[in-house]
Amino acid sequence: MAKKKILVATSGGDCPGLNAVLRSFVKRASATSDEWEVWGSMRSFNGLLGQPQELKRLDRKSVSGIHVKGGTIIGTTKRGGPFNWPVKQPDGSCTYIDRSDEMIAMCRDIGFSAVVNIGGDGSQAMSKRLFDKGLPIIGVPKTIDNDLGATDVTFGFQSAVDVATEALDRLVSTAESHNRILILEVMGKLSGWIALHSAIAGGAELCLIPEIPYDVAKIRSFLYNRFDNGKKFAVAVVAEGAMPKGGSSLGSQASEMSSVRLEGAAQRFADELKQAGIESGIRCTILGHVQRGGSPVPYDRVLAAQYGVKAFEMILEEKFGHMVAFHSPNVVAVPLSEAVSNPKLVDPNSYLVHVAKSINICLGD
Ligand code: F6P
Repeated sequence: MAKKKILVATSGGDCPGLNAVLRSFVKRASATSDEWEVWGSMRSFNGLLGQPQELKRLDRKSVSGIHVKGGTIIGTTKRGGPFNWPVKQPDGSCTYIDRSDEMIAMCRDIGFSAVVNIGGDGSQAMSKRLFDKGLPIIGVPKTIDNDLGATDVTFGFQSAVDVATEALDRLVSTAESHNRILILEVMGKLSGWIALHSAIAGGAELCLIPEIPYDVAKIRSFLYNRFDNGKKFAVAVVAEGAMPKGGSSLGSQASEMSSVRLEGAAQRFADELKQAGIESGIRCTILGHVQRGGSPVPYDRVLAAQYGVKAFEMILEEKFGHMVAFHSPNVVAVPLSEAVSNPKLVDPNSYLVHVAKSINICLGD
C-alpha cells in the first residue's frame, strides 16, 4: 500500500525544543501503523523550493535521542520562503517573488497529504496564508519570546528564562562585590516575558519591558533611595524592546518571518542613567543568542512532546488551518487566524506585574 506522506518544516529563529517536537511527532506517526512517512524540508520550506531539493526522511532512527539537543536537525531560516523567494539580478541585487502557488502544487505532486510548520508569529502567519490558498497545513507554536497569541505558552520560553536567570544570578554577586549597576539585556522582541520572569526569578532590582515605558527620573529616585538604605549596587534586566516614556524600541525592520531586529536598549538605558547623574560603574551584558541555544529544560521537553503528538493527531482529525495550543491543562487545536490575530504581551495590570512590584522590583513607571 502506498504510504501517506507528511512534510514538516521548522521556520524562523530556532529555539530549544524543536528537535523534541520532531521526535514526538515521528514517534506518534509510526506508533499506530506504518502507513505514514514523515519528511523534513531543510531550512524551512527552502529545502522544498530549492534546486536541488533538500528533503530529509524522518524516521524513528533519525529522531532517536534528539529531544535533548538544541537547534533543529532539519535547519531553519528567517530568509526566503514561498512568499518571499529571493531572485538574484545580474547587477547583484535581489528581487523577491511569490512562489506559494508553485509550492502548493509541488506538495500535491509529491503526494504530501499534510504539512506541519513549527514556528513563531511570522511563520504561523505564513501558514495561514498557505492554508487560505488551499494547503492542508497545521501550525506548532515555538518561540523563546512567548509572544504568540492563543496559547498559554510556547516551548523554548522556559529554557530562555533559565539561561537569563542563571546569568542574572552571576551578575548579582559581582555587582554586589563592586557596588556596581549591572544591566542585562534579554531577548523577547516587543514582549517582556523573558525579562519579567527572569527578573522575578533572579531577584533583580529593576526590570524594563516594552509594555511599560519607563521614566528615568522615577528610576533615579528608586536607586537613590536604595543607596540611602545602604545598598550601593543594583541589577537591571532590560528587555531588548524596552523604551522610555515618549520613546520607542531601538531596532529595524527585518524579514517577513521576523518583523523586527532590536538592539541597543541596555546601552541607551546606561547612557540615560549617566545623564541622570548615576555613575556607579554601570556595565551592560547583552545575553543575545545564548538564550536560544543549547538543550531544552525538562518543562520545554514535556511541552514539545505534547505538541508533537497533538500535531499528528490533528492530521488524523483533518484539523487543517489550526495550530496546536496549550490551554492548561489541555493541549487543544485553535484556528491559525486566532493565533496570528494578536500577539500575547505582558498585561501591565496583571497579577505577575503586581507581584514584581510587591517584591520591590522597579519597572520604571
Ligand atoms: O524571536 C526570537 C528572537 O530570538 C527574538 O527574541 C530576537 O529579537 C530575534 O529572534 C533575534 O533574531 P536574529 O536571530 O535574526 O538575530
